[in-house]
Amino acid sequence: MRQAIKKVLVTSEEINARIKELGDQITKDYQGKDLMLVGILKGAVIFMSELMKNIDMPIMMDFMAVSSYGKSSKPTGAVRIIKDLESSIEDKDILIIEDIIDTGLTLSYLVDNLEKRGASSVKICTLLDKPDRRRTDVPVHYRGFLVPDEFIVGYGLDYAEQYRNLPFVAALKEEFYRK
Ligand code: IMP
Ligand code: MG
Repeated sequence: MRQAIKKVLVTSEEINARIKELGDQITKDYQGKDLMLVGILKGAVIFMSELMKNIDMPIMMDFMAVSSYGKSSKPTGAVRIIKDLESSIEDKDILIIEDIIDTGLTLSYLVDNLEKRGASSVKICTLLDKPDRRRTDVPVHYRGFLVPDEFIVGYGLDYAEQYRNLPFVAALKEEFYRK
C-alpha cells in the first residue's frame, strides 16, 4: 500500500492536534444549541469519529451517502442521495462533516438540500480543502487543512475504495491513478 504514496501531506500527530482544536471551537460555538453532526459516507467516517470525541456537549449524529452524476455534472452540482438521514432535522443546527471539498459541487447541493428541510442552521466542517479546483462558492466554516491540487488518500479518503485506512493524509503517485 505504501509504495503508492508520493508524499505524506499531514501526519497523524498533526491531524489529531487539529481535530482537538476544531472540537474545542465547535464546543464553544454551539453552546446551548441543538447540534446534529451529519457525516458524509464513507470518506468522513474516520474524521467524524475522532472529531465527536472532542466535542464536549450533547450532540446527535446521522449519516448521508451521496454520489455525483459524473464529471459532466452542471455547476448546479445535482447529486444522487444513496442513503438519506434517518430523522427530521427541523429546527436543528446541522454541521455537515466531510472529508474533502474539491469542486464544492457536492456540498453546495447538500447545504441547499438540508436548509430546505427546515434546519435552523447548516454549516460545514471539512478535514481537507482543495481550493484550486473550486467551481462554486461554498462557505467553509471549519477546516482542518488546505491541500494542494493532488490526488489525496488516507484518513478516510480513497482511490477506488483503497487507502482509506492510512492513518495520515498523503498524495498518491500519478502512476497509481492515471490510466
Ligand atoms: P466535490 O463535489 O468536487 O467537492 O467532491 C467532493 C468529493 O469528491 C469528496 O467528498 C471526495 O469523496 C471526492 N474527492 C475529491 N477530491 C478527492 C481526492 O483528492 N481524493 C479522494 N477523494 C476526493
Ligand atoms: Mg466523500
